[in-house]
Amino acid sequence: MKNNTAWWFRIPVAFFLVIIIMEFSVDGGDKPAFLAYPLIMFAFMALVLLILIAIAFIVQAIENVLFHTLDDEAKARYLATKEEKWEWTWGKNLYNKMLGSKPMEEEVEIILDHNYDGIRELDNNLPPWWVYLFYASIVFAVVYLARFHVFNDYTQDEEYEQEVATAQLEIEEYKKTAKGLVDANTVELLTDASDLNAGKTIFESNCVACHMADGGGGIGPNLTDQNWILGGGIKNVFHTISEGGRDGKGMIAWKQNLKPVEIAQVASYVLTFEGTTAANPKAAEGDIWVDPNAVEPVTPEKETSTEQVIDSTSVTMN
Ligand code: HEC
Repeated sequence: MKNNTAWWFRIPVAFFLVIIIMEFSVDGGDKPAFLAYPLIMFAFMALVLLILIAIAFIVQAIENVLFHTLDDEAKARYLATKEEKWEWTWGKNLYNKMLGSKPMEEEVEIILDHNYDGIRELDNNLPPWWVYLFYASIVFAVVYLARFHVFNDYTQDEEYEQEVATAQLEIEEYKKTAKGLVDANTVELLTDASDLNAGKTIFESNCVACHMADGGGGIGPNLTDQNWILGGGIKNVFHTISEGGRDGKGMIAWKQNLKPVEIAQVASYVLTFEGTTAANPKAAEGDIWVDPNAVEPVTPEKETSTEQVIDSTSVTMN
């Protein structure tokens, strides 16, 4: 019978080889193929692993069947060669060494004197794996102590601040590229100078042809007055810029050319025009826009009066 290597050695090696071959044959751009197509690669590797395991099972089964066809002497010989395979002996030796326990036959040497109702105690050595870990932790502790308590490398607070700062940068970066992060429902008026400047740049390179640099209007309506055809306020203006004006009027949907954050910036910039005086203002179009969310002082009074009416009715009903 062929003397092949153990399954636990064969499968990982074959699996690793397949991964390497995949890396070379699949073009994932500058990224590893695994990161470029994580889902497909994962499914494929799972399939490969499954096939490898299946093959191992089949080989094992065939070996078993053949083993039973051998006579006793051949069986013994086969088992002996199996025992001697290097992966087995190497693994077993390492395991025994790390365990550091005495073989059963030598246990008499380390047995202690006392005997509690037949229960006796072995004076085993500490297992080397444990002892090595312990030494490693001592080395770690010394390095740690020196680094953080003697040379004061950095404190936990500083580490936290640093991580928060990098995370904030990442969030900023993400906000810049993430499409659909703001939309007409979630957008808020931006007031930072950097955002307004970015908005100004966008306005000047895309919008001045129809709205003029000072917002006075031309083909497009005047943006400096309080009148809005399509509704004022950041959410409506965002919506107009993103989705465009009424059909045939000339205001296109800018969502194809501008990212949501850019639309938010230019919308915020557009809103800074209100109340300024344009050099050549176009006549006002549309209605004066009142923010429905602004608190109107009359509303609460109205509500109480309605309540009173209901109350009095219910009283008369009784
Ligand atoms: C081709 C000319 C043109 C360009 C370029 C243009 N607009 Fe317009 N814009 C218009 C017209 C026309 C309207 C009126 C739409 C309507 O009546 O439905 C309008 C309407 C608007 C409104 C709504 C005004 C209101 O009263 O409701 C806003 C806000 C606006 N534009 C912003 C922009 C921004 C920001 C840009 C640049 C990204 C831009 N526009 C580029 C022509 C243009």
